[in-house]
Amino acid sequence: MSFDRSIRIAPSILSADFADFGREIRAVEDQGADWVHVDVMDGHFVPNLTFGPPAVKAFRPHVKTVMDVHLMIAPVDPYIEAYAAAGADVITAHLEAGPHVHRTLQAIRATGKKAGLALNPGTGIEAVEYLLDMVDLVLVMTVNPGFGGQKFIAPQLEKIAKLRAMIGDRPVHIQVDGGITPETAPLVAAAGADVLVAGSAVFTGGSVSAPAPYGNNIRAIRTAAEAAVAGKAA
Ligand code: DX5
Ligand code: ZN
Repeated sequence: MSFDRSIRIAPSILSADFADFGREIRAVEDQGADWVHVDVMDGHFVPNLTFGPPAVKAFRPHVKTVMDVHLMIAPVDPYIEAYAAAGADVITAHLEAGPHVHRTLQAIRATGKKAGLALNPGTGIEAVEYLLDMVDLVLVMTVNPGFGGQKFIAPQLEKIAKLRAMIGDRPVHIQVDGGITPETAPLVAAAGADVLVAGSAVFTGGSVSAPAPYGNNIRAIRTAAEAAVAGKAA
């Protein structure tokens, strides 16, 4: 059975209504989300603050798909077990969060969760060369982490393509995060990304009481990405 690299769309709830996460999560999953991306920020590793373990625990019962927790925090090791206990399915730590990333990945794997490793735009892929057997996912940041609605950093496309070649046929997803829209989705998909995080491009035009635009936005991103992959394969 070959590894499933079909395109997955992971809306980031950072762009959802902060007064209504339960209903927003249910709405975006009903409208076609494959994963739910939860951006954890500590005001130290990134200049913004979001969700502690209790908040993630509160989201858990509303998530029917995959709860994909992106830890933009440093230090990260002391909090891994708490986010695992809160119900994360995937726990992604930043390579830049501390000096012992191999140990961090061991700690995530020890919880039984899927392990992700995130690279900031300034970090090269040579940093992951000896870690590819420790991860289920490598997250290439296509913005500087901390906020939704930022501009896509196009030079990351070359990094994605080189990472895709480095991964080879290992069962490792490439996730991209930041500035993903129907316009940038085909670029990252053609380069080799298969899990696309999108916040502002999904949570726009709709609401929990009128969620249809969420579905249109997800379909626009997915269709553009899949067309690029098909075009590449042709
Ligand atoms: C940024 C977060 C991203 C962000 C994406 O630090 O990690 O997940 O929410 O937002 P958009 O899709 O609006 O760029
Ligand atoms: Zn994120």
